[in-house]
Amino acid sequence: MKTAFISDVHANLAALEAVMADIERRQPDEIICLGDTVGYGPQPAECLAIVRDRCSVVLMGNHEHAVLYGAEQFTPLAQTAIDWTARMLRRRETLDYISSLSCEHNRENLRFVHGSIRNPLLDYVREADSPWAFLHLIRTLQEEFVGFNICFVGHNHRAFLGTEVGYIFPHDGGQIRKTRFHIGREKAYVSVGSVGQPRDGDWRPSWLMFDGEDVEYHRVEYDREKTIELILGAGLPEFLAERLRYGN
Ligand SMILES: [Fe+2]
Repeated sequence: MKTAFISDVHANLAALEAVMADIERRQPDEIICLGDTVGYGPQPAECLAIVRDRCSVVLMGNHEHAVLYGAEQFTPLAQTAIDWTARMLRRRETLDYISSLSCEHNRENLRFVHGSIRNPLLDYVREADSPWAFLHLIRTLQEEFVGFNICFVGHNHRAFLGTEVGYIFPHDGGQIRKTRFHIGREKAYVSVGSVGQPRDGDWRPSWLMFDGEDVEYHRVEYDREKTIELILGAGLPEFLAERLRYGN
């Protein structure tokens, strides 16, 4: 069984269409979306319609939550984008759909969340920046991954694996190319990366395929100038357009 994962589309339709085309070429059995389909970008309704139609599981991200319940905890820039997004999504049917989404999904030995197992909506799984942070990850995997061994997350907009032996980053470029990793029965956080607003230094949308044993990361190119133009044309903050050029 092949499952494709996407996350953090952030209303970037050009990126989503490029990712969906790449996914469909590889013929997964299903597609799972880990939330933040809206927010920041210029085409929230169009992106929601695609994930609703094509994904077997769609989670609520903190941006969907903010559209429904307010964005008090957001930065001023993100609040501006949420206010704009909420105006675009005011149709009752769309809001009903968003409010029907759940924050986590459990399946056999797998967990799907937007944030982390501690707070499925808001908490970030991050790469460790100190030995203590890495020990914290090991303790989490050993003590809190109970009844499941792999948790797929979005929210941080970065593609990597967090395992008991270290953080593992896919390399999709240059002479060393390593994008497929065996997990098997090991415990791991699998961070999917972002379709519509990557922040790991690579501007290309990220998605991954899981076959029950291995994960394989993919990056695809898309016409980012199209999305940049729409962001600026909508009057959304310029920074949201500019960051798409660099993936940060
Ligand atoms: Fe996000």
